[in-house]
Amino acid sequence: MSRNIVVLGAGVSGLTTAYLLSQDPSKKITVVAKHMPGDYDIEYASPWAGANYLPVGKKGTPHQSWERSTWPVLKKIAENHPEAGIHFLDAIVENRVKDRQSTTGIWFAELVQQNPWYKDVVPDFQNIPRDRLAPGIDGAQKFTSAADAHHSGQKADVVVNCTGLSSKKLGGVLDDAMYPARGQIVVVRNDPGPMYTVSGTDDGEDEVLYIMTRAAGGGTILGGSYQRNNWDPLPDHNLANRIMQRAVTACPQLVKDGKGIEGLDIVRHGVGLRPVREGGPRIEKEQINGVRVVHNYGHGGFGYQASFGCAEAAATLVKEVLQEIPKAKL
Ligand SMILES: Cc1cc2nc3c(=O)[nH]c(=O)nc-3n(C[C@H](O)[C@H](O)[C@H](O)COP(=O)(O)OP(=O)(O)OC[C@H]3O[C@@H](n4cnc5c(N)ncnc54)[C@H](O)[C@@H]3O)c2cc1C
Ligand SMILES: *[C@@H]1O[C@H](CO)[C@@H](O)[C@H](O)[C@H]1NC(C)=O
Repeated sequence: MSRNIVVLGAGVSGLTTAYLLSQDPSKKITVVAKHMPGDYDIEYASPWAGANYLPVGKKGTPHQSWERSTWPVLKKIAENHPEAGIHFLDAIVENRVKDRQSTTGIWFAELVQQNPWYKDVVPDFQNIPRDRLAPGIDGAQKFTSAADAHHSGQKADVVVNCTGLSSKKLGGVLDDAMYPARGQIVVVRNDPGPMYTVSGTDDGEDEVLYIMTRAAGGGTILGGSYQRNNWDPLPDHNLANRIMQRAVTACPQLVKDGKGIEGLDIVRHGVGLRPVREGGPRIEKEQINGVRVVHNYGHGGFGYQASFGCAEAAATLVKEVLQEIPKAKL
């Protein structure tokens, strides 16, 4: 028997969930969204992400298992479907002990461990010896990462709610656990080589330094920030300057002939709001006004690296919900 499913939201969460559900041909799926791929908007987080795979889920949590199970899928896509725009990059992650209590340090707490759970997931994990670290850096890791209303006119059997940060403000049950963590970036054409991330900066506890090149001509992302409860949709020019300055200082090979930030070839400045949820993403079933809903929102700064894990969890709930619906009499 065919089932009608509406997926609300076309970010990485909605599209990955729709993709997994579509593997079963009896499910007829419509994706409904205010913004679709190709759009740029402050309410649409997915286009602003680098996006890389730098695990941040704490050991023993569902978050960890979502990130763990997403890696093999991304790896397979990177190996077999270059057109998908996912590639492998060497990743260097540097840790400063003084960032331990800062906003960015707490965000990266799991990532910068000497002996993290993901060392057995990603290839080539190694701790970089202390004598090879720059002044002010207390530890560093290197590894390989991967960067990236129903159409039938009939009533939907299930609605999958993948509306990201809008879940805070949408009608119905408003989710007050949601808040934005603002990320400002600069997209440039320059090539830095390996991916590079540091746990913090000296320019404020919610500013961070990361550099990564996207696959398939998507440019190089210079980041960034993690500004909680800041909704400002416009790039802050002073912050943009600091982002570029830090990137050029940390990675001089980014610009030719010893140039400064004037050697950066800028494509655009951007701002995205990470849809953070206190207590972690909401992957749950619920009935709202008689409509069966499966939620999959609140993925903060890890919507890509946990995408397949979370979408699998949501798809399993959809299956459960469909089994609960009484079968129509013939
Ligand atoms: C600067 C920055 C860097 C990041 N870097 C990384 C990274 O390196 N790795 C990583 O894993 N993650 C990263 N992230 C996080 C990642 O981008 C998010 O976790 C992810 O994009 C969330 O996806 P989503 O599909 O849940 O939400 P969104 O992408 O925000 O999509 C929400 C969808 O819902 C739709 N919608 C909302 N309200 C309605 C409505 N009322 N009706 C219809 N449609 C609606 C929107 O139009 C949109 O289609 C980064 C984020 C930012 C901002
Ligand atoms: C999605 O979840 C949010 C938060 O609970 C809620 O406000 C909204 O009504 C939900 N949307 C749908 C279609 O269920």
